[in-house]
Amino acid sequence: RAFAEEQPFKQRLLVVANRLPVSAIREGVDSYDLELSVGGLVSALLGVKEFDTRWIGWPGVNVPDDVGQEALTKALAEMRCIPVFLDEEIVNQYYNGYCNNILWPLFHYLGLPHEDRLATTRSFQTQFDAYKKANQMFADVVYKYYEEGDIVWCHDYHLMFLPKCLKEYNNKIKVGWFLHTPFPSSELHRTLPSRSELLRAVLAADLVGFHTYDYARHFVSACTRILGLEGTPDGVEDQGKLTRVAAFPIGIDSDRFIRALELPEVQERMKELKERFAGRKVMLGIDRLDMIKGIPQKILAFEQFLEENPHWHDKVVLLQIAVPTRTDVPEYQKLTSQVHEIVGRINGRFGTLTAVPIHHLDRSLDFHALCALYAVTDVALVTSLRDGMNLVSYEFVACQASKKGVLILSEFAGAAQSLGAGALLVNPWNITEVAASIGYALDMPADEREKRHQFNFKHVTTHTSQEWAATFVSELNDTIVEAQLRTRQ
Ligand code: G6P
Repeated sequence: RAFAEEQPFKQRLLVVANRLPVSAIREGVDSYDLELSVGGLVSALLGVKEFDTRWIGWPGVNVPDDVGQEALTKALAEMRCIPVFLDEEIVNQYYNGYCNNILWPLFHYLGLPHEDRLATTRSFQTQFDAYKKANQMFADVVYKYYEEGDIVWCHDYHLMFLPKCLKEYNNKIKVGWFLHTPFPSSELHRTLPSRSELLRAVLAADLVGFHTYDYARHFVSACTRILGLEGTPDGVEDQGKLTRVAAFPIGIDSDRFIRALELPEVQERMKELKERFAGRKVMLGIDRLDMIKGIPQKILAFEQFLEENPHWHDKVVLLQIAVPTRTDVPEYQKLTSQVHEIVGRINGRFGTLTAVPIHHLDRSLDFHALCALYAVTDVALVTSLRDGMNLVSYEFVACQASKKGVLILSEFAGAAQSLGAGALLVNPWNITEVAASIGYALDMPADEREKRHQFNFKHVTTHTSQEWAATFVSELNDTIVEAQLRTRQ
């Protein structure tokens, strides 16, 4: 149970993200079963020991009644989590609509809704109003819990208005905002009807962070070109007020993965997998079932590889784990059936009575199963069309100390900037190139695999999530001290 310890003498860190790191299931009128989900952000913040951390966010379930809300608030408090309750209409307009049908695709270079997507999009303005309203609801909850001296760290594209709402409450609140997706070229951002309002709302923060230097540069360009503000080496300046903008690449808690590989239950699963796929090379894809992950393109590249390399038939298997996500958004429903259709066709074409080339699972795996799978994999395929960072690539590398498998990595994932020298970089849109890389990876000599793995392993084990979080928060504290000194001068 994370964050369960009181740490009364430490500075408080209020982490605000759209979703709380828990899954909540209602068991009775006034009781909930809660489970902590340890994603990248949670493990990053568990490692930050110098702060007393609390989470504020949406619990992911609709709780319309007061009794339920009270019970869930109480249960969450034990996990140092504070809920922001959103009703169905807001979730639909803000989360499904503005966040996931407009901002998410735009920030991943898929553009604003057009054709089919436009037909299912209700007015931008209605969704944008709901977005602002939802951000204000988050701000109200944060402000209710805020105590002087607290640091507020806002996360992701769902909460671009939050810095502004908080500063309107109290200009002294220390506010950081971090984007976990790419920030697109200013040419793309300027297509967004609410482009200026969003930029100005983010600029209310003291420190704005991105995973890569390119995303930070795109953001600064958007502010200079769209808002006419001045970009400086430190960030963006507006009438003497500087908003610091910088890159802070996230990592993983690599020790957690490395330690897990020693556990008997993980070893047991590895043994089972090795037996199950004996005599075949294992290729692995693990993605949320999202259009930015390039799953259809990846599977088509695998098909082309099989087509061009008959000697590999029956000697290689692709395990594709596609975790369902945002299933209320029509675009995601369409993607699910598209992927099923392609997998079925390829298995029909290249399968035999005893083996199929693609094993496709539409569900998530528990942590131990995941580690075992990473460890027995020969080639991992991370071929997102765009991706803020992509930590699957890091997790794979962390689990490969003995096998030294190959990572095929999209050049459009943030991770390409850090793992580029060890991975085989590909343009995921170029199916012929990905197919050729699969062949190259499967035949790669041991000494080249070793060299590439060592490079990546060193990076993954030295640039951890804990260090990422600690750096951002200390930079935020420093930024505020500097600003105070500037105003005193
Ligand atoms: C991405 C976003 C996160 C989000 C996650 C899962 O990684 O950057 O903010 O929480 O996807 O998506 P969901 O919509 O299920 O929260």
